[in-house]
Amino acid sequence: MTEDLFNKKDIYFPSYSGNNDNLITLINRTTQILCEWFSKAEKYGPLNFDENFKCIMPDENGNSTEVLFSEIQSFLNNSFNPVHPGSLAHLDPPPLIFSILGDLIAAGLNNNLLAYELSPSVTLLEESLCKWFAKKIGFDDSSGGIAASGGTLSNLNALIAARHNAGLGSDPNSVLFVSEDAHSSFIKCTRIMGLDESNLVRIKTDNKGCMDIQNLMESLDKCSTENKKIFAIVATLGTTVRGAIDPIKDISEICKERNIWLHIDGSIGGIFAVTSIPIEGLNNLNQANSITINPQKIIGITKTSSLLLVSNIRTLENTFSTGLPYISSKKNIINRGEIGIQGSRPAEVIKLWLGLRFLGLKGIEEILKSSIKRKDIFIKNLNKNKFEINSGPLHIISFLPKGLAPKDTDIWTQSKVNELMKKNFMISRPKFKGKYYLRVVMGNYNTRDSHIEELLKLLDAY
Ligand SMILES: Cc1ncc(COP(=O)(O)O)c(C=O)c1O
Repeated sequence: MTEDLFNKKDIYFPSYSGNNDNLITLINRTTQILCEWFSKAEKYGPLNFDENFKCIMPDENGNSTEVLFSEIQSFLNNSFNPVHPGSLAHLDPPPLIFSILGDLIAAGLNNNLLAYELSPSVTLLEESLCKWFAKKIGFDDSSGGIAASGGTLSNLNALIAARHNAGLGSDPNSVLFVSEDAHSSFIKCTRIMGLDESNLVRIKTDNKGCMDIQNLMESLDKCSTENKKIFAIVATLGTTVRGAIDPIKDISEICKERNIWLHIDGSIGGIFAVTSIPIEGLNNLNQANSITINPQKIIGITKTSSLLLVSNIRTLENTFSTGLPYISSKKNIINRGEIGIQGSRPAEVIKLWLGLRFLGLKGIEEILKSSIKRKDIFIKNLNKNKFEINSGPLHIISFLPKGLAPKDTDIWTQSKVNELMKKNFMISRPKFKGKYYLRVVMGNYNTRDSHIEELLKLLDAY
């Protein structure tokens, strides 16, 4: 049957007048293949990639549905599988089922968030959802936001807006402050902004991985005497290696005093702010000018899903608006291509909205709480005499046997990661302050206490 389907030219695109049974058949079959892949995760492990895997490029005549389905299958068989309970390496949790459906709908809609006329309902949805998040973190009515493909882009949107609003658009003396444990993408951001690493001031962190306020003050004074102009201070709400939270209250007071834009990189921890889960250091978010939230990193919204929220939506408008001469505008409606870097953009916000509508606040809270609980169980049972532990209030733990010389940490962690992979646990090995560590990210909802127990046994960690 599928061979005939392929030979009919009318299945190239959905039918606009008749029935779409062909498409339904193909979607059902694809869903079945995908779900079989999910349910075989336990058998094949978190990462099942054959080094001989070949990507086949498009050819002259196209291919039959049978060929394409066998290639889809082979693709799935050679992919990282986030639903496996041993997938604990990164911030890539299992996908929420309503988010998967949201992706399908977004693809089918094929609307474009560049402009209201190309995506009226989705434009309103994105605007409303950004506002909803902004209100949750305590911003007022002038707030708003924009979605982007990942935390790097949300942070970049924020920094460009910060520099523009400080009137430092093309000033080579403008500098950005981040902590030494901030995400590496800030290096990329400064390069994109025509700056170099001398424009990126890295503030020391204390023994909990939080920005050191004394060092921040000294560095601010040093910059003033050198006539450098600071366009933003970034506070990280959940560092990548250990989940630490910078002292947002202190930093926000310094920013207010000195009239500096405060950006919070909440790519990891920002989502906790919509719940009432008590997280040490998660406060005063509404004192920021902007905050990045990345629901893709923990609650299972499918990639990519990241929001930049700003306390005043005008700051994005006056930074990015150029006018879109080929697009019609409507009074009081902002074309969303005019408040961020990206132009054409898919309706990704649908999978965020559907995921959140499905979970409700209680569901979000349950998922987030469970990640903290898994972190607590892991730390409670990790032998403190044997291991140095770097963690914080969130769900990330980096650890290393005590007494291991820095030069030996590379080989030791690599061999541990390989050993664990053979037992179907995928963990990561970040380089942090001159040493390699093992890192587990407890954002996988499928990971049970028994899996944690097994992992600890394999690590000889009791
Ligand atoms: C703290 C932090 N900020 C920003 C990013 C970049 O996010 P993305 O990979 O979505 O661009 C990451 C990625 O892990 C991160 O951990």
